[in-house]
Amino acid sequence: MPSDDRSAVVPSSDDPSARAEALRREIRRHSHLYYVRDAPEISDAEYDALFKALQDIEAAHPDVVTPDTPTLAIGGPPVDAFGKVQHPHPMLSLDNAFSAEGVRTWGERVLRRLAEVDGDAAAAARAASLAYVLEPKVDGVAVALRYRDGVLVQGATRGDGTLGEDITANVRTIRGVPLRVPAVDGPLPDGVAVPPDLEVRGEVYLPLDGFAAMNERALAVEGRTYANPRNAAAGSLRQLDPTITASRPLRLITYGVPDPHALGVASHWDLLNALEAIGLPGNPDRRRFADLDDALAYADAWLARRASLNYLADGIVLKVDALDLQDALGSVSHHPRWAIAYKTASEEATTVVVAINVNVGRTGKLVPHATLAPVGIGGVTVSQATLHNEDYVTERDIRVGDTVLVKRAGEVIPQVIKVVPELRPSDALPWHMPDRCPVCGEPVTRTPGEADTYCTNAACPEQLVRHVEHFVARGAMDIDGLGEKLVAQFVTDGLIADVADLYNLVPADLEGREGFAEKRIANVIAAVDASRHRPLRRLLIGLGIRHVGSTVAAALAGAFGSLDALAGADETALTAVDGVGPEIAASVVAWFAVPRNRALAQRLTAAGVRVADPDWTPRAAVEGGGDGGAANGAAGPLAGKKLVLTGTLPTMTREEAAARIEAAGGKVVGSVSAKTDYVVAGEAAGSKLAKAQALGVAVIDEAGLIDLVGTGIPM
Ligand code: IVH
Repeated sequence: MPSDDRSAVVPSSDDPSARAEALRREIRRHSHLYYVRDAPEISDAEYDALFKALQDIEAAHPDVVTPDTPTLAIGGPPVDAFGKVQHPHPMLSLDNAFSAEGVRTWGERVLRRLAEVDGDAAAAARAASLAYVLEPKVDGVAVALRYRDGVLVQGATRGDGTLGEDITANVRTIRGVPLRVPAVDGPLPDGVAVPPDLEVRGEVYLPLDGFAAMNERALAVEGRTYANPRNAAAGSLRQLDPTITASRPLRLITYGVPDPHALGVASHWDLLNALEAIGLPGNPDRRRFADLDDALAYADAWLARRASLNYLADGIVLKVDALDLQDALGSVSHHPRWAIAYKTASEEATTVVVAINVNVGRTGKLVPHATLAPVGIGGVTVSQATLHNEDYVTERDIRVGDTVLVKRAGEVIPQVIKVVPELRPSDALPWHMPDRCPVCGEPVTRTPGEADTYCTNAACPEQLVRHVEHFVARGAMDIDGLGEKLVAQFVTDGLIADVADLYNLVPADLEGREGFAEKRIANVIAAVDASRHRPLRRLLIGLGIRHVGSTVAAALAGAFGSLDALAGADETALTAVDGVGPEIAASVVAWFAVPRNRALAQRLTAAGVRVADPDWTPRAAVEGGGDGGAANGAAGPLAGKKLVLTGTLPTMTREEAAARIEAAGGKVVGSVSAKTDYVVAGEAAGSKLAKAQALGVAVIDEAGLIDLVGTGIPM
C-alpha cells in the first residue's frame, strides 16, 4: 500500500484525534496480520510510514495520546528498579513425563481422579467426551499480562510463582504483544467476550534467527555472545531501559488464562482460539485429539522435528480440553493435574573416555575426538564425541580414563561438556596433540594464535581422501558416484595421488570392485568427464584453498576469470576484490606458492578441465564502477527479492548463503509469508518448508540458489 493510497484507508481529517485513532486502527490491524496471522499485507517500509505518521501527530498534539497507542511500544524512560507484582492466581509449573508410557500413566490418573471426584457413572460419561489439547512447550520466560478494559496495564514475570516483577514497560515493547484487546475490529467467535479484567499467561522467547542476529551484533559491538536464547530472552526482559528491550527481537506465545470461563469459552481449545481472535498470538502447532494415542502420535512426530523449529522447545504439553474437567481435576501446589509436559529423555549423560584419537581432515586439519564407553542419551547410543581442537581438550583438561559429562543437542554431534574431577583415576595423564600426523607420520604445525593444528604433508593419504570427497561434492565439481569407500580404495591402490588423477580413471580401474557393474562404471566415468566443464568458481571451491568457500570463489572467478590469472595475482590485487580480506588473500597466495599445488593446477589443465571461464569480462568493466567487486547489490539478479533459508545446505554455510543472496541484491528474512519470493531449503528443513508449500512460495535447493545468484556473476 503506497503512502499515496493511505488516505483510502485512513481518511484525512482535520481532527488530529480522529486521524490518530484511524492510524492506530490500521497499525493494529497490520500488526495483527504480521505477528498473529503471519500473513502481512503491507511491507515493513509501509508499516513504518504509518507508524511515523502517528508519531508525528502525537508529537504535535500530545493531548491525543492514548494509553494503548502503538507508539508506546518503542520503549518509555528507564526505571531504577522493578516493582513487585503479587499474582492473584499463583503461576504454577507443569508435571513432567519422559516417555509415552509416562503420559499414558498420567492419562490413567486423570480418569481415576475423575471417578473419585464424580463417581463412576458420571466419570464414564465424561471420559467419553475427553479430549486433549497439545501445545509446544516453548522454552522462554513465563509472563502474566493484565488487560483492564482491554488495555494492557501490567506485565509481570513469574518470580516464585506468587510474587513476580513488574516488567510492564518492557513487555509493551515486544512485537506481537497487543497494547489493546481486541486488537482488531470485527466479530469475535460466538459467545466470546473480553472480560473487564483479563490476565493472560504466555511465554516470551527469542526466535533462533533473531537470537543468532543478536549474537552477531553482540560479538561485533561488545566482543561477547549470549550463551543461549532462553537466558538472552530473560536478560532482555529484565532491562531497566525499555528501549534496550525494544531493540531485542522478542516474541510472545500465549497458552492460558487463570480464569478461562470469563472469556465465555467452555474448553481450552476454544480459549486458545479466542485469545488468538482478540489478538494474542498462539502456537500454530497446537492440536486437539479425542484419543490419547492419536495425541501421543502427534506429540512424538512433533518432538522428532523439534530441532527444525525457529524456537527452543523443551517438550510438548498435553492438557485436558474441557474446562469443567480441568476444574474437577484441580491442582496440587506445584502443578495442575489436568496438564503434563511430555519431554524427551535427558540429553546429557556421564560416561568414560576410553581413548582420544585424532582425525585428519581435507585441509590437513587434525581434529581430536573421544571414544566413549557407549551411553544412551535421549534415545540414541553415543560412543564418540568431537573434541574440536587442542585447546578444547586442554582447557577442560580431558584425559583418557576421565568420567565426562556428554551432551547431545538435537541432531548435533555429541559434545564433551566437562570432566567430573572427583572420578579421575590417579594414573590419568594430560593429553597432548601428537607432533606427528597419526596417518602419514609427517610433522604437524600450529600457527601461534590459531586453534587448529595441521599435517604439513600435502600428500598425506587421509588428506587426499578428504580432498577428493570435497572436490566431487555438489557445490564443487559435482561428480556423482564417487563415495568415500571407493575414493579410499583408489588412494590405497595408488590409482590417485591428487584430484587431477580422477580424470585419468578408466573403466578397468573400477571393474571387479564390489557393487560396480558395467552401467555404474559407465556412469562414474561419464560423471567425471562432465565435470571438466564446470565454471571456474566451482573448480576454485573444489581445490580446497583455506577460506575459499562458495562466496569467495565466485568473487575470485568474477575478478580474475582464469586459474592462471588467479595464480599470478599478488595480495594487493586479491584484496582489491570485494569480500577478499588480507587473510583470504594470504591463503590464496600461499596455496599457489606450494609447488605441488601449482603442479596440480597444470595437471588439471592438461586433463582438459576448464580452468578459465569463456567470455569472461572483468567485473570492473562489467559494472563500470572500477571497484572489481563481487557484490551486485541493488542491481543484482535478486534485487528486491525476499528469501528465507531453512535446513542445512550441502556445501554452503548459512552465512555464505546469506552473503551470496545479499551480494545479489536479495534480502534474507526470517519467516515465510506470502511475500517471500523463495525458500532455500536444505537437509532437515522444517516448518518453514511446510509453510512455503502451503503458501505456494517457490522452494529451491542450493543448486537452485547458485543458479539464481550465478546469473549475476560473469563466467
Ligand atoms: S501451562 C497452569 N503451557 O513451562 C499450567 N506452560 O514448566 C502451567 N510453558 O511456567 C503452564 N509452554 O512458563 C503451559 N504451552 C504451555 C507452555 C508452558 C511453556 C512454560 C511455562 C511454565 C513452565 C512449566
